[in-house]
Amino acid sequence: MNNMYIVANWKMNGDQIFNSHLITTIEKNSVINDASHMIICPSMPYLQQINTQKPSYMILGAQNISQYDTGAYTGEVSGKMLADLKTKYVIIGHSERRELYNEDNNVIRGKFSKAIENNIKPILCVGETIEHRNNGETFDYIHSQIDAVISSNKLDNLKELIIAYEPIWAIGTGQTATPESAEEVHSYIRNTLLNTDSNLAENTPILYGGSVNSDNAEKLFKMENINGALIGGASLNGEEFSKIYNIAGELTNE
Ligand code: PGA
Repeated sequence: MNNMYIVANWKMNGDQIFNSHLITTIEKNSVINDASHMIICPSMPYLQQINTQKPSYMILGAQNISQYDTGAYTGEVSGKMLADLKTKYVIIGHSERRELYNEDNNVIRGKFSKAIENNIKPILCVGETIEHRNNGETFDYIHSQIDAVISSNKLDNLKELIIAYEPIWAIGTGQTATPESAEEVHSYIRNTLLNTDSNLAENTPILYGGSVNSDNAEKLFKMENINGALIGGASLNGEEFSKIYNIAGELTNE
């Protein structure tokens, strides 16, 4: 797979002035590369702002989607609304949503379905806690998170799937997985997909997330089964985020 995906997860950060400056800085510092896809996921209230300001090579993503279609769900945002705002990707199953908002695999399955129904590409996050890792349960846990979604979907629904492997102990901690240990899990994920379908295994981008920055990106991106990154903290610094994007772009040119 030669395509790379560099996804900015701004989480609950930013305001109109900050966002505008961030997009301008990214634009100024990024070397556009067709094989390296840049996806920007701002906070919900700013989807429209980013959609209006961003250059066309930046693709709009959201950080959440409701598992319901419409109606009395105070505070929720539906897939139809996201599609209306030209949102092309959505992050689903982020560990912060699983842990802080009790989203279980059932909820995540529902959100996945709503993304597909509205032609929004799902970025499914999976990843183990430090306890799982220490107990040797990493693979089983990740298998259950992936299986919860793929076993209940037809292959046709999985064509646009992106998986992001984010070990929970590496998110926002500055403690990145080593490229080799990340690759071990990425290759396990690829094999898990292979058990369902060879095209699915071949075509699904598997991104790494967890304290990615411009110092560790190159080594991570050189791993065979790492097809890009989901970036939190470093995506709030335009120069830093562009550096990571440019590293991915250079590797796709090699
Ligand atoms: P981080 O966040 O880059 O700040 O570790 C990644 C994420 O939570 O998606």
